[in-house]
Amino acid sequence: MMLAVEDLHVFYGESHILQGVSFTVEPGEVCCLLGRNGAGKSTTLKSVVGFVPPRAGRISFRGVSLVGLPTHRVARLGVGYVPEDRRIFPTLTVAEHLRIAARGGNGPGPFGAEAIYRLFPCLRERAAVPGRALSGGEQQMLAIGRALVGNPALLLLDEPSEGLGPLVVAEIRHVLAELKGAGLSTLLVEQNLPLARALGDRFVLLSKGRVVFHGGASDLRPEDARRYLGV
Ligand SMILES: Nc1ncnc2c1ncn2[C@@H]1O[C@H](COP(=O)(O)OP(=O)(O)OP(=O)(O)O)[C@@H](O)[C@H]1O
Ligand SMILES: [Mg+2]
Repeated sequence: MMLAVEDLHVFYGESHILQGVSFTVEPGEVCCLLGRNGAGKSTTLKSVVGFVPPRAGRISFRGVSLVGLPTHRVARLGVGYVPEDRRIFPTLTVAEHLRIAARGGNGPGPFGAEAIYRLFPCLRERAAVPGRALSGGEQQMLAIGRALVGNPALLLLDEPSEGLGPLVVAEIRHVLAELKGAGLSTLLVEQNLPLARALGDRFVLLSKGRVVFHGGASDLRPEDARRYLGV
């Protein structure tokens, strides 16, 4: 198993946000975590990477417990994280982002800066451009590249298509399909159901901090998609 989350409980102050979330990500698969706004998708990813410590429950990555580890240790173990808000530094260039991220990662592997530029050719053209001058799509591509350059065994993506136009979404989808083809295990948070369906091997549906569905695409009934995703 690549990632196992078991009976996870997370609070923000008094609010009980994740109420016993359990799911797994198997090696080489794309597992999609779906749910409406506020369902707890980002909180789940933040718990895995150590930003939001759980009150109870277990999180294990390749058999190693992640609970209580600082974020940089989680990254070094091989978990790449692309946050919802991308967190691109305004004054650092594209190349600098990649160089710094490579040092904090999991060590040598297939993804050097050159591989990132092959995946996202527009980043090569923009290598010397500071973060603040990048478009939203370029920032998202850089956020993905920055996670990959650490050579993760597991990639966590928080709504990579959010707020982007169809051409950029198509490019990101193409890259994610390529990464899947290369066997990279991925936990993908999305509200774009066509994108999730195109990439996902398995789906976990969250509603109000609980898992209401866990299964393959063919088991996901349209009425559940309507009820829990509003589509
Ligand atoms: N820092 C915080 N302090 C208090 N409450 C928070 C905090 N972050 C999130 N919440 C609340 O926790 C719940 C889950 O939030 P979360 O961001 O995990 O949802 P989400 O599924 O990622 O939603 P979205 O699709 O809007 O990104 C929401 O009710 C949200 O208001
Ligand atoms: Mg979110």
